[in-house]
Amino acid sequence: MAETIKLFVNGCEVEVEAGKNLIDAIGAVGIEIPHLCYHPALGADGNCRMCLVGIEDGRPPLVPACKTQAVEGMKVLLDAEHIKKIQKDVLELELINHPTDCPICDQAGECSLQDYYMTYGREESRMNVDQVKKAKKLDFGCGVVHDQERCVVCGRCVRFCRQITKTGELGIVNRTDSARVTIFPGRPLDNRYALNVVDLCPVGAMTSADFRFKQRVWFLKKNRSICHGCSRGCNITVDHNREKDSDDMIYRFRPLLNEQVNGYFMCDEGRLSYHGENENRLSEARLSKTPLSFDDAVTAALREIEKHDDILFLLSPNSTLEQMMAIRSFAEKIDATLSGFSDGYIKKGDGDDYLIQDDKSANRAGLELLGIDSSKEAFETALKKADLLLNFNNDLLLAYSETELKKLLKDTRVIGLSSHETACFQQANLLLPVASFTEYGGSIINCDSILQFFAKAVSKNSEPVEICELISLLGGPFHDRTQLWEELKKNCELLSNVDPDNIPPAGLKLTDSEADNVPA
Ligand code: SF4
Ligand code: SF4
Ligand code: FES
Repeated sequence: MAETIKLFVNGCEVEVEAGKNLIDAIGAVGIEIPHLCYHPALGADGNCRMCLVGIEDGRPPLVPACKTQAVEGMKVLLDAEHIKKIQKDVLELELINHPTDCPICDQAGECSLQDYYMTYGREESRMNVDQVKKAKKLDFGCGVVHDQERCVVCGRCVRFCRQITKTGELGIVNRTDSARVTIFPGRPLDNRYALNVVDLCPVGAMTSADFRFKQRVWFLKKNRSICHGCSRGCNITVDHNREKDSDDMIYRFRPLLNEQVNGYFMCDEGRLSYHGENENRLSEARLSKTPLSFDDAVTAALREIEKHDDILFLLSPNSTLEQMMAIRSFAEKIDATLSGFSDGYIKKGDGDDYLIQDDKSANRAGLELLGIDSSKEAFETALKKADLLLNFNNDLLLAYSETELKKLLKDTRVIGLSSHETACFQQANLLLPVASFTEYGGSIINCDSILQFFAKAVSKNSEPVEICELISLLGGPFHDRTQLWEELKKNCELLSNVDPDNIPPAGLKLTDSEADNVPA
C-alpha cells in the first residue's frame, strides 16, 4: 500500500498518495485540475499555465499544479474567483488563433481543449482581427498528419520524441503566435512508436492517417484487451462499432496504461494490427476446398480423428493458457502427440530495449509452463510418423516455404482450425473457422512472466467458435473455464495459488516467491 498524506482541497480534507504532483495526487481521487502540457509519462514542462492553482501558505497567489508536489496539510484552492479567471484567460489565449473546426476534427469528443472550454471557459471570442494562418494536413511521416492551426504548442509530442524514443524528429520553431511544431526538412518521423503522439496530443493537431475521418469517437465502444503482436502483451483498448446491420468492426487499438507491462504506450505495428482482426478472416468451413456447414465439418473432423492412429496436434504460441490446457488434455485423452513448434514466430533481432520483442507471439511462456515440446526436431519427427495433423491456428508458413511445407505434409491429412484465410491452411483437407483473440477471453503470460487476463472485446453477427469450445465438441474432456483452470492449477505449480477470476487488471507476476504473488 502506497504511503498517503492528507491535504485540503477547497477546504475539504482528502487523502492522496504521497510523492505525486497535485495534478496526479488530486486527480486520483476524482478532482480534476485542467492541464495541457503535463503528461505523467513525460513529466512537467510548465509551459501551458492551464493548471494554475492557489496554495494558502503565503506563496505567490498562483502556482502550476504540475510542478507542485502534494505535501501533508497543504491547503489547495481550485475554486477561487481569481483562479477561475486565470483559467478563462488561458483558454482565451489558446483559442485566439484556434480554428475551432471541431465538427470536422477527429479529436472532437476526446479533446482537452473542447472539454476545458465547456467546463472552464464558455466566453465569447473578443477577437476582431484576422487569425494567424498556419499549415494544415502536414504529412509528418509514420502515418501522423499534423494540423499546425489546432496545435496549442504544449510540446508533448516533441518531448515524446526526445525522452521516450530518443529520436528527436520534432521541434518547435518561432515564438509567440508564430510558434509551430515541425519536422526538420526532409527528416520525417522515423520511429516504431510514432503514432503515440496522436494519443498524447491533447487537441486534434496530431491525427492518424489510418483513423482520420473513419468514425466519430462517441460512436465507438471501448473494451480492454491485450495486443497479441509480440510477447510484451501491451494493454490496449479495442475501439469498435457496429453500424446498422453490418458486422462489429474494430477501428483502432490504443494503448492502455499498465505500469508493469507497457506504461502509457504501444508500438505502431501492434496498434495497426487491428486490421488483422477485421480482414482476411476465414468465415466458412471447407472439406477438400468445398464449403460445408460448421456442424458437418465437426462431424467430418470426428470421423477423421476416429479413423487415424497416429495423430499430431500442433498448437499456436498465441493460444491462451485455457486453450493450451484444452488441447493438451484432448491430446492425452486420444493419445495424440503434441507440439508447440513455432520458431517462425520469432524474428531474431527485431525487438528493441523498450517494448517490442523478438517473439511475435503472445503466450510462448504458457507453452513452456505446460511443458509442451516446441522443438523443430520433435515436430518433424512426429510429423513424419503422423497420418493426421490437427493444426490449431499455427501458421507454419512463418517457419517453412510453401514448397517445404507441401513436402512435409505430403503423406499427412490435415485438419486446420484457423481464424484467418492464410496460405498455410489452403491445402488443409478439412478447414474449420475459429475465433480470433478479440472475439474470446483468456489468460496469457508475457515475456516478463506476468500473467494477464483479457476478456472478449467484440461480438460478431455470426460468432466464430472459440478453440476450447470446439475441442469440447470434438470430445475434449473439459467443457468450461473453471474445469480448465482446475486442471491448470493441478498441472502447473506456479499457477496453483492463482484465482483465475481475480487476476488483477495490471497482471500477476509469476515467480517462485509466494510473496510476489500476493496482489498489492
Ligand atoms: S501537436 Fe499536439 S502534442 Fe504537439 S505541441 Fe501541438 S498540441 Fe502539443
Ligand atoms: S510491443 Fe508487442 S505487444 Fe506491445 S503493441 Fe507492439 S506488438 Fe503489441
Ligand atoms: S500542465 Fe502545468 S503548466 Fe501545463
